[in-house]
Amino acid sequence: MLSVAILAAGKGTRMKSSLPKVLHKISGKSLLQRVIDSCFELNPDQIFVITGHKSKEVQESITDNKKIQFVIQDPQSGTGHAIQVLCKAVKKNEGKLLVLNGDVPLIKPETLNRLINLHDFKNADVSLITTKKKNPYGYGRVFLEGDFIQRIVEEKDCNDLERVNPLINAGVYCFNWGNLSEIINTLQSNNNQKEVYLTDSIPLLKNSLSLEIEDNGELQGINNRIQLSECEESIQNSIKEKHMLNGVTFINKASCSISEEAEIGKDVIIEANTHIRGNTKINSHCIIGPNTFIENSNVGLHCEISNSTIYDSQIIDHIKIGPYSHIRPNSKISSFSKIGNFVEIKNSQLEEESKVNHLSYIGDSIIGRSTNIGAGTITANFDGQKKHQTKIGKNSSIGANTVFVAPINLGESVTTGAGSVITKDSKDNSLAISRTKQVNIENWERKKS
Ligand code: UD1
Ligand code: MG
Repeated sequence: MLSVAILAAGKGTRMKSSLPKVLHKISGKSLLQRVIDSCFELNPDQIFVITGHKSKEVQESITDNKKIQFVIQDPQSGTGHAIQVLCKAVKKNEGKLLVLNGDVPLIKPETLNRLINLHDFKNADVSLITTKKKNPYGYGRVFLEGDFIQRIVEEKDCNDLERVNPLINAGVYCFNWGNLSEIINTLQSNNNQKEVYLTDSIPLLKNSLSLEIEDNGELQGINNRIQLSECEESIQNSIKEKHMLNGVTFINKASCSISEEAEIGKDVIIEANTHIRGNTKINSHCIIGPNTFIENSNVGLHCEISNSTIYDSQIIDHIKIGPYSHIRPNSKISSFSKIGNFVEIKNSQLEEESKVNHLSYIGDSIIGRSTNIGAGTITANFDGQKKHQTKIGKNSSIGANTVFVAPINLGESVTTGAGSVITKDSKDNSLAISRTKQVNIENWERKKS
């Protein structure tokens, strides 16, 4: 039987934040959610999350929280106290208890499995993950005696000699829960932080093992914003390396960020300052950026998108977007289309080979195939209360500065005169024009004042 306890009750004082530490995000996901996701991979029998500081906020932040049992620790008197509260709250303290700090977000399920296997194989009372750090500042230092862990001394309680020990406690433990619960209530808070340390349980257990792994960034604990940004960098580096090895070019990799879920095809070039977020797929042979943001969208083959922002939309193949276009949610731009400078598109569908090249707003619209939307065209889609649709048929030619007062429906091969305000539907093959005729008054002189 495997139970997991994730410690997430602390405030995170060193973050200097009104947000609980475990809710800070790296690459779009909270620290706590990352730890939980790693645990789900192990298929444990039960998962406990210990919350305390802003517990409601922390509990509500978790997706799929039906599989989780919450235990409240109030006040938060240290990591050992958190486990005292857990042992009291749960009837049967039996099987293995994997304890994870909620602020060690990059821990991999494979590493957790290695720890559990070692623990089982050696029939240990406690096994924990350690690593040697070049700069161990802030971590608990682990002291071994032969193969066993003798004790762990926290940074704030170390003397000068203890402080130089590079072997640190990663905050990831596998306990024999029965044995732990027998000694847990004997832990005291007679240390420099006046907290009950979980690490003080180690000398009280007989068979305490260390699984030392290479310091590859996976064990980085987050206590302040510097470590938060180091973690972000480390996760981003591994995401970008994965894409580079799969045939993606980054022109200026440090200035770009890519979500873990993003898929990017071969021979895609990512220019500087490009950010690909959420569930986005970029297909092969695209050039994305510079200065481009794409979230939860699908970009087809051979597209070029520069200096633009795209949310929740479908961009099919061979499309050029930008510079300075904004494609808002629920839009579909079909193949061989072109969206140009200072164009905003929202909740609209553009069929193949359509062009909206300059300074336009297209909202709640359906634009037919091979239709050209002239510069400055606006769909007036909002009457103050409701949004309305604009439909323009295929092969139409919309004159510059046309305003469509929606709802409006134009047939195929319609032309509109430049500067027209279109308020009435028009049929196939018609010209719609609505503007006062130009009057030329000849030999006209301005009044002299
Ligand atoms: C802890 C370890 C240290 C280890 C380091 C690894 C202890 C005493 N020290 O130190 O040996 O090297 O992690 O990153 O355990 N929490 C609670 N309730 C509390 C206090 C904390 O749930 O009363 C939670 C926090 O929300 C956090 C985790 O426990 O997620 C660790 O607490 P933190 O204060 O960050 O401990 P460290 O000083 O990093
Ligand atoms: Mg910590």
